[in-house]
Formats: sequence, structure tokens, C-alpha cells
Amino acid sequence: MPIFCYCQAEPPGQDVFAKYSIFVLNMNAMSNYISLAILTAIVCISSCQAPTGETAQLNDRKWWKEAIVYQVYPRSFKDSDGDGIGDLKGIISKLDYIKSLGIDVVWLNPIYTSPNYDNGYDISDYRNIMTEFGTMQDFDNLLKGLHERNIKLIMDLVVNHSSAEHEWFRKSRSARNNPYRNYYHWWPAEKGKPAPRFSFFDVNGDAWEYDSLTDAYYLHYFAEQQPDLNWENPTVRKEIYDIMKFWGDKGIDGFRLDAFQYAAKDTTFSTLPLDYEKNIAKYYGMQPQLHTYLQEMNQEVLRQYDVMTVAEGAGSTLADAHALVDADRNELNMAYHFDAIDIGKEKGSYSLLEFKRVYSKWDSAFADDGWLSIYLANHDNARMVSRFGNDSEEFRDRSSKMLTTFIMTMRGTPYYYYGDELGMTNIRFDNMEDYRDIETLNKFKKLKLEGGDLIQFKEKQKRVARDNGRTPFQWDNTSSAGFTTGTPWLKVNPNHKTINAEAQDKDQNSVLNYFRAAVKLRKENPVLVYGAYTLLDKDNPDVYAYSREQNGEKILVLLNFQGTSATVNTGIDMRNANVLLGNYPNASVDGKLRPYEAVIYKLD
Ligand code: NOJ
Repeated sequence: MPIFCYCQAEPPGQDVFAKYSIFVLNMNAMSNYISLAILTAIVCISSCQAPTGETAQLNDRKWWKEAIVYQVYPRSFKDSDGDGIGDLKGIISKLDYIKSLGIDVVWLNPIYTSPNYDNGYDISDYRNIMTEFGTMQDFDNLLKGLHERNIKLIMDLVVNHSSAEHEWFRKSRSARNNPYRNYYHWWPAEKGKPAPRFSFFDVNGDAWEYDSLTDAYYLHYFAEQQPDLNWENPTVRKEIYDIMKFWGDKGIDGFRLDAFQYAAKDTTFSTLPLDYEKNIAKYYGMQPQLHTYLQEMNQEVLRQYDVMTVAEGAGSTLADAHALVDADRNELNMAYHFDAIDIGKEKGSYSLLEFKRVYSKWDSAFADDGWLSIYLANHDNARMVSRFGNDSEEFRDRSSKMLTTFIMTMRGTPYYYYGDELGMTNIRFDNMEDYRDIETLNKFKKLKLEGGDLIQFKEKQKRVARDNGRTPFQWDNTSSAGFTTGTPWLKVNPNHKTINAEAQDKDQNSVLNYFRAAVKLRKENPVLVYGAYTLLDKDNPDVYAYSREQNGEKILVLLNFQGTSATVNTGIDMRNANVLLGNYPNASVDGKLRPYEAVIYKLD
């Protein structure tokens, strides 16, 4: 009398949580039927219940969960024509280098036509390539070159705002009755000044810009050159879906949705509570219509292509983040939150205990459903080793490797920023004239107007300014680090004499070759992608220790985040531990870790 439990899984891309149903065959007597049905139900419920941690994610394998993303900041990667600005032909010339890293996906920051107030995050033509970067033919060649090497390409989708030079905005501002007026958010001046809205980049911190041409204010959460698009207008949404299809049809493999949590707004523009700007994500982000837009975008575009999607920002709560990325939402694949990257931006606020708490909190909240990214740097942040490691001569190498170990052994899709594979460091400009970034420059102007402490500001920028992470890639030790034959748009870090790809490529023990080894290890061990994460020795202030576990396979990761020796107590019997990778020649096996030591063990 066989009993079958049928744990029904939804079709790919749908809800992964198994539902249970019971089939009982060959029943003769009613009484037998009832008792057997009860027994069957118990057996089936326990074997079919929604999987947790270890298995839930494994049941829903996806290429974008297993991928390792390498972020290329095109302006600073490689210049092919001597104008001092990186370009697409430059990237093409370095495709073999990118391939040699072992990564699967390249994320390219915006390459579309732009007046470049915000380095491409102000787009004036979504279907064309920025002149400095090359032509559409160059783009097609780049995509082909990547695909030939089995590397996918994801592109930035910057549609919370456009450039003020986009023809939509030109028309929109030309007259109140222009058909494009409603593409943006306008407030007629006869209604008085609208309730304050904070702008990230505005010199006065004011997101409302008065435009005398039509006697009205327009909204810009970022710089005044970046007016916010009106997502309530279905024609705007259709325009954007058409743009996405244009790139989807070209064969790109995904989109990174820039600042998208801010796209849906409360368009009554009511007065917000005092100090609301201290929690912008809460007041600006994740308005309910955002999900309607994303589901529509998914329906109209995303599900027609095999593309991955990642949201910049994840709202202000875990529930906000789940609403964006859980499989049954049919919105996006993953998000990146700011909780961890923001630790330590204010001087003295960094602590490893807080770092561990944040990562552990996010991991456990997404153990069963939804997916996140793991990153320690990008173009909006200072260099990883300068922020979370130690970029002194003594420890730069080891602490870079330690941080790489962290990124490559956590659950979530790793996003790894160009140059971090060399251990590139903050440049720490002394002069404001060296900065190019609108954020730093406008914040400086704002502070000056307010009579703030400019010296303190400059010191802080050495730690956090975005330009620290945007200096040209250090290819070799020649002048301009082999990045350009001209004058680089942003100064090259003088330490390229010793920190550069050419030297590290030849050195088996380099940061670069360690990165390659860590990438390979992750690719060979799906437990590092899907395995359940458990924080160990939680209150240890020096060492981050955790295990990853799946189907009886167990990996232990020990990371000493200090420049001094430290001891870790995981309670794990290490006698049968095999070292898979470590950043010292002979890895520690007794729980005593040397400065910035990182070890990955396989446990039997
Ligand atoms: C987020 C981008 O990552 C950042 O570089 C840009 O300045 C803002 N969005 C505005 O687009």
C-alpha cells in the first residue's frame, strides 16, 4: 500500500516554497483510509514543509545568485584615445584581463549620452553612447567580446531622474501646457513655495528649483541638473519600458536600478516631520505605488528577457526589502542595502561587532526567501581597504585579502569593485581643486555658505569622498599608471608605482592572485553561495567567524579584522579541518589568528 507525498514546487521564477498535497492510493477500507490519511499527512507535512536556511535557497538555484559581479567604472578603467577619460574601446582592450579574474558578470556604470554633471547619472539620451566613451558600434563590440568570453553585462538604469538636458525636460519646462509638462514634477509658484524636500546634491540642500520661464518649481532629489521623472504618468513609464526593451533586445543581461526606491512619490507634497531628512529612505522611499510600477515593469519588460535586476537601496525596513525581491513579488531579483556600507562613515562609529550584527541580521532575514548582494565598495564609496581594512604599507596586502575573503564567502551575490582586486587605496586629496565629484564639491559649497567647519569637512572627505574610489585603474608603474597617455580626468594615485596589475599578475602571492583564487573557490563550492550562514563567537570584537553549511557540507571562515593577533573560540573541533584558502603561508589551525589573517576551512 504505497503512500506518495507530493511536494509541489511552483514553476521556475515563481514561488519557490513547496506546497504539499497528499495522494493515497489503493485504499480498501474506510477506517484504514482515515488512519492512514492521518499518518500520511503527518509524514508529508514534515517532509514537505517550507524549507529553511540551508535548503530553501538551494531549491531555487539561479544564475544570478551564483554569479560574481565585477563593477567597471568606465570613466576610470582604461582610456584608448588619450583624452584622459576611460572609454569603451579601452574596456575592450582589457577584456582578457577581466576574463582572467574568473568573474561572471560585468556591471557597467552609465555610458549613455550625458552632460556629466554626475558622471553619467544624468542622462540626456537613453539610446545613445556618451561621446567621450565612444559609439554604439563600440558598445556592440564590447557586448560581443564579453559574451564570447562567457561574461554577462548589466547596465545602470537611471530613471528616477533624467538630465535637465534631456529633450523631455527641455520640452517640459518650455510651457505649462506642453505635452511633456507632466513628465516631471512641477509646482506652480502661485501656490506659494512647496513644502521642503531635501536634495542630496543641491548647494542649498533644496530639492525644489525655481524656474522663471514658467514661474514654477521643479523637483530634483539629486542635483538641479537631475530633475525627477514623474512615474505617475503612464506615458513616462511606457517610454522607460521601451528604453529597457531597446537594451534588452541588444542582448544585455540585466539592469541595476539606480535610486529607484525614490521613484514613487507622495505627489501631494505635504509637509514632512521635522528632521525627516535624517531618514530619507523612510519618507522618500518605497511609497506603495513603487510596487505597482515594478510589477508592471516586470510584466512589460523583465520577464520577456533572461535578465537579472538589482535595486540600489532597499527601503528602510527588512519588510521593505522583502517586498522588492521576494520571488512571489515578481518585482526584482535582489537589492543592496546601505546598513553595512554606512557603518563608519561618521568618525569613530565603526565597530566589528556592529558590522557582524548588521550582516547577520540581513542574512537571517533573507535565509528563506529573497536575495541580497554583498559588497564593501562601489563608485559611491571610498576604497574598501581604506574603509574596512588597513591601507598602511604593513597591512594593506593582508587586509585587502581578508576583505576579499569576506565578500567571497558570504551568502548573496558578490559585487566587487574594479581596483579592489589590487588593493587600491583612497587617494586622500589635500586640495578641493582635485575633486571632480558633484557631491563633494556641492557639499563643500553648502558648508561654506552656512559658515561650517571646512577643515573638518576636508579631513572627512579623505575618508569618505566618492572620488577616492574613482581614481584611474592602476595597470602598471608608468606615468598615469598605464591608464591614459593624456592627462587623466581625475588624478592617478601615486602609489601605482608599487600597486599595479602588471606587478601583481606576476606575483603568485599578490592581492590580485588571491582574488582570483577566492573567486575560483566560490565557483567550485555552491555551499558558499547557498549554504546556511551561522555567526560564531558572536561577541568577539576582533574576529568575524561564521560557518556555511549545506547538505552536510560545512565551511568555516575566520577573519581577523584587527592589526594585532587575536583569538577565536568557535567551539568547533578543528582536528579535521582542511585549509582551502588563507592569506598567510601556513594558515592558523588553533584559533590564534595573526593580524588580518583570513582562513577558509572545510570541515569533515
Ligand atoms: C546613485 C548612484 O550610484 C550615484 O552615483 C548617483 O550620484 C546617484 N544615484 C544619482 O543618480
